[in-house]
Amino acid sequence: MKKPFVFGMVLMTLLALAIPVSAEYKATMKLATATAPDHPYNVGAQKFIDLIQERTNGRIQIKLYPALQLGKGEREMLEGVQQGAIDLLVTSTGPLGGFSPSINILDFPFLFRDFDHVDLVLDGPIGRKLLDDFEKANVKGLAFWENGFRHLTNSKGPVKTVADGQGLKIRTMENKVHLSAWKAAGFNPTPMAWGEVFTAMQQGVINGQENPIAVYYATKLWDAKQKYLSLTAHVYSPAPILMSKKVFDGMPPEDQALFSRTALEVAKFQRKINRDAEESRLQEVAGRGTTVVRDVDRESFRKAMAPVFDQFSGQFPKADIEAIMNAK
Ligand code: PAF
Repeated sequence: MKKPFVFGMVLMTLLALAIPVSAEYKATMKLATATAPDHPYNVGAQKFIDLIQERTNGRIQIKLYPALQLGKGEREMLEGVQQGAIDLLVTSTGPLGGFSPSINILDFPFLFRDFDHVDLVLDGPIGRKLLDDFEKANVKGLAFWENGFRHLTNSKGPVKTVADGQGLKIRTMENKVHLSAWKAAGFNPTPMAWGEVFTAMQQGVINGQENPIAVYYATKLWDAKQKYLSLTAHVYSPAPILMSKKVFDGMPPEDQALFSRTALEVAKFQRKINRDAEESRLQEVAGRGTTVVRDVDRESFRKAMAPVFDQFSGQFPKADIEAIMNAK
């Protein structure tokens, strides 16, 4: 009787000693984004990094890698997160459906009325569930930051109504809901990783793209012939901050709580700086020669893109979509 008892005590002591030094725990982490350094993803990321460093008295260091330094596109960087080669990633939802299909529900056109509606849904139970769903893909969803409402840009001429853009060759994200919506609207869309888009537009392989004002501004898309910016606001683009589950699970509970809490806290800051800067950026680019089309007939885009709701109804039940649309 004595021997198993002694063995048990030794085992328990060894386990207790082992817990704080988990093999997965890293004190220096990599945070990646696809966007240019002064895009709001990176302003939010720097704030997150500073807070984590301050709150751990420098015990945890995080280095920021913006502008696709760690991968050709967001899909590739997410694979890096799954494998634990990249610890943290702020990304659009563009390629995320291939990893966690439920997230694509946010990609439907004209789903959100305005920023208040966005905050209500993303900060509520629907948003939490979508973040938690990433666990099945070995990814920890920490919080929703944002890219913003997406707008159409092109090199050919002002687009006011959906009829003005018929046949226009545009790049979409690698996202089947977006691709179908633009096809339904009569455009000629091609999915492409972000790293290839600037050159494709310079060379005239495509005539346009769609992204929020912050991306247009930070990437200086007017230098890639994108002289026309139409405020279509056809879809809202959230930007989850995701973490390698392997790395997250390897951290002690107090650090896990710190990361989760800080990511949510920074979400408020990051969304605010993004929204606050939009109007001044529009005025600045207009001053530089961009034609900003403000009086877009959004209803014409909404109607033309509406068939996607039926097209994907097998994957995203109408009731779930309506729960988002009717949230008040
Ligand atoms: O268009 C995209 O792919 C995304 O919006 C971008 C620019 C990579 C930011 O997440």
